[in-house]
Amino acid sequence: MSDKLTSSKDKILFTPGPLTTSRTVKQAMLRDLGSRDFEFIQTVADIRARLVQLAGVSPNDYAAIILQGSGTYALEAVISSTIPPDGKLLVIINGAYGRRTEAIAKTHKIPNVALTYPEDTQPDLAQIEAMLAADRAITDVAVVHCETTSGILNPIEAIGALVKKAGRRYFVDAMSSFGAVPLNLAESAIDYLVTSSNKCIEGVPGFGIILVKRATLLQTEGYARTISLNLLAQWQGLEKDGQFRFTPPTHTLLAFHQALIELEAEGGIAARAARYRANHDALIAGMSALGFETYLKLADQSYIITSFRYPKHPNFSFERFYKALNDKGYVIYPGKVGSADCFRIGTIGRIFPSDVRDLLSAIRETITEMGMC
Ligand SMILES: Cc1ncc(COP(=O)(O)O)c(C=O)c1O
Repeated sequence: MSDKLTSSKDKILFTPGPLTTSRTVKQAMLRDLGSRDFEFIQTVADIRARLVQLAGVSPNDYAAIILQGSGTYALEAVISSTIPPDGKLLVIINGAYGRRTEAIAKTHKIPNVALTYPEDTQPDLAQIEAMLAADRAITDVAVVHCETTSGILNPIEAIGALVKKAGRRYFVDAMSSFGAVPLNLAESAIDYLVTSSNKCIEGVPGFGIILVKRATLLQTEGYARTISLNLLAQWQGLEKDGQFRFTPPTHTLLAFHQALIELEAEGGIAARAARYRANHDALIAGMSALGFETYLKLADQSYIITSFRYPKHPNFSFERFYKALNDKGYVIYPGKVGSADCFRIGTIGRIFPSDVRDLLSAIRETITEMGMC
């Protein structure tokens, strides 16, 4: 095996995921458990119960469903198997992940309409309210919580209040925020919320998670447009005997169980939010001192991930900058916004303000090497 693969010190991931995880989370995978094993079934039940608790809701009203695949599979499961044949989806878009939801609806030929905003702009609540009043065919509304494209945090509670008032179903893609941004599903009137194993709960990749309002899910019999992404069937399988319909990601689930225990030991979502916020505050202060500008106004900016504009200096090349940081052991992320040249730095995962300060020193060194200061 090459030295790189056996090296005990991994690079630190300042990305939107997969993220840096704790050694103990990785070590939890060093076991083989059968998918019908009693211990495995108990572990899955415990994971599902802990997820409902994290969501701040009663297990009588909400359930957690685990679905093999990445986060997008879980998004596609919700869209393709919970919208009725005569339904219509309103997608609120201000970034690439909102566009992905729209693309899923289009692929499944689900009637849809979009309210699209620039990537640095919050959705317009009055416009959403007016659209729901004007278009009675809309049955479901989808929005992204933290649009990881830019790092903007959308007002999902306020949108939820409008959706509830209008009597529609509400779907939130909270992929990069769940576990790190305090949120009450019931108060936000959320019917379906999606996240994944490798984001703020700090597990490793392998499955998506859907938190569902039981009463809403129970009305979806016969709506599924695929077999493997049938959310109701997945839930029924897990409820019946605690087992997955198809091969589960056993090792990933063991890691995730450990990650949930570590989240609780850290002090739950409030404590994790405080750590990520401290990471973010250190990043913003340090980058600003180095002359970098954020793409978003700070008021709209989440503490999950931050987009920085390319510096105007003629010596700046993102490829060189990225590679130099990578060689120093720090992985940042290219930008995804369409309207400006940006790169992104994530502040989630098993990283601390001291790691952010180390990254800032590496950035200072790199821009000096590039002759930018
Ligand atoms: C908000 C959001 N939605 C969807 C996805 C897609 O998840 P995946 O790449 O796990 O399919 C991501 C990934 O970063 C995301 O941040």
